[in-house]
Amino acid sequence: MTVEADRLAAEYFDTGTLSGLPADHFIDGRWCPPVHGRTMETFDPGLGRAYHQFAAGDADDIAAAVDSAVRAGRDWARTRPAGRGNILARAAALLREEAPRLAVIESLDSGKPLAEAEGDVAGAARTFEYYAAAANTLQGDSFPLGHDYLGYSIIEPVGLTAHIIPWNYPLSTAARGIAPALAAGCTVIAKPAEQTPMTALLLAELLHRAGLPAGVCNVVTGTGGQAGAPLVRHPAVRHVSFTGSVQTGINVMQEAAANVTRVLLELGGKSPVVVLADADLDAAVEGILGAIFENAGQICSAGSRLVIDRRIHGEVVSRLVERAESLTIGHGLRRPQFGPLNSVEHLSRVAAHVEGARARGLSILTGGRPTMDPQTGKGWFFEPTIIDAAPADDPVVQQEIFGPVLVVQPFDTEEEALALANGTDYGLVAGVYTRDFSAAHRLARDIDAGQVFINEYFAGGIEVPFGGNKMSGFGREKGLAALDAYSRVKSVAARIGG
Ligand code: NAI
Ligand code: MG
Repeated sequence: MTVEADRLAAEYFDTGTLSGLPADHFIDGRWCPPVHGRTMETFDPGLGRAYHQFAAGDADDIAAAVDSAVRAGRDWARTRPAGRGNILARAAALLREEAPRLAVIESLDSGKPLAEAEGDVAGAARTFEYYAAAANTLQGDSFPLGHDYLGYSIIEPVGLTAHIIPWNYPLSTAARGIAPALAAGCTVIAKPAEQTPMTALLLAELLHRAGLPAGVCNVVTGTGGQAGAPLVRHPAVRHVSFTGSVQTGINVMQEAAANVTRVLLELGGKSPVVVLADADLDAAVEGILGAIFENAGQICSAGSRLVIDRRIHGEVVSRLVERAESLTIGHGLRRPQFGPLNSVEHLSRVAAHVEGARARGLSILTGGRPTMDPQTGKGWFFEPTIIDAAPADDPVVQQEIFGPVLVVQPFDTEEEALALANGTDYGLVAGVYTRDFSAAHRLARDIDAGQVFINEYFAGGIEVPFGGNKMSGFGREKGLAALDAYSRVKSVAARIGG
């Protein structure tokens, strides 16, 4: 893995690009140039430079993908679930075989450290393995109508599904939507983020090689406005899975409403990590660091608020500051501990949040400024940042920053901890660190979030349903629950006489 990845990284640093990158849409089982011939650039955030051109699609490319998916949909929905599962299992094996190249491309396109991208590819393979098996679990019920009747349900695929994918986890988010959709017998059109289009395209081509019939999974690239919006509002689309910002999620839901199309919205969060005084502080410090500095904080489920007992606040915060300052910063392909932000626009958004905090007189314990790769003097980096004792109504507590910015909120009682934990409009995930079994499960019960991690932030995997409450959205991805998004129940009730 390392040898092949390092060879590809060297190729990139020597040539300024990689050979064999996709440049077209993937529609109907083949590479399709954009109907209107327009292209756009994708960037390497670690050096702050464009490295490749790809198709800038629009409504006409979406129309071609819809035609292809609609043609393929009937046969795909009739394939035996075990047959669908076999294709997904072959895709998982190909993902593992091709992991080094996929990880290098993911790291280059998004900026994230290569080790994290390797984890994402392994996670995507796991996702396909999991839904390969889950394809066999889709079964209906029989209803107790009595001797003279027969009542039963059939689980049907919903049909053509659209997947709008963000730039922070391009391959993982594509996999976690596409795998259960295919398992359920749906067809797919995915629209990756314009900042990170590469790995979704490669995934579609890989699925085709794994035996997926042409047209069942299509990928159209381009901007949200030009390619995403026409996809979401296309009347042939029966379900939209969207991951991204609250405002775009609201727009997507409004567009989908015009056709009464189902939506699943995953809109990020402002997730608390609650640390009680009796917690294992070594585990808590590790957990908090990963929760906010992994992928430079560009994680919907980042633990961006540390809600901490005042008695241990000083010790934990000083350990966090020391560790934050020791993280190695660098280009993702040089295997740093901490990489750049995904785009220059996003870097200025994060910087503006922290400038606001500084102007309001908040205490910035470490970081707080844009920075660069010390080796090259380039790239879109922001320092690992910790802001102490922020008032509960401050914008840095209330708003998703989506960067490496931890906001600390001390408390005196468990009741206060709960109020702080629940004190934003978001409700995606939460972490709890304590050795007190009952306190841990009281908080898990009372925190308004879709998922609670106890004593290990990000515990679990594809098996655990994931999604938000409140402004974080609705619907659940991952786990068997994800199949609900792509399935519908048909009930049959018959009088059969006696
Ligand atoms: P965005 O929500 O606009 O983009 C996400 C995806 O939606 C991209 O694929 C984009 O092309 C697409 N899109 C945009 N407008 C669309 C439309 N009208 N119809 C259909 N698709 C559309 O987010 P953006 O601008 O990339 O980032 C802004 C903020 O959103 C970030 O600062 C962060 O706070 C948040 N965000 C949250 C994510 C999460 O994981 N929940 C992921 C990405 C961003
Ligand atoms: Mg890019």
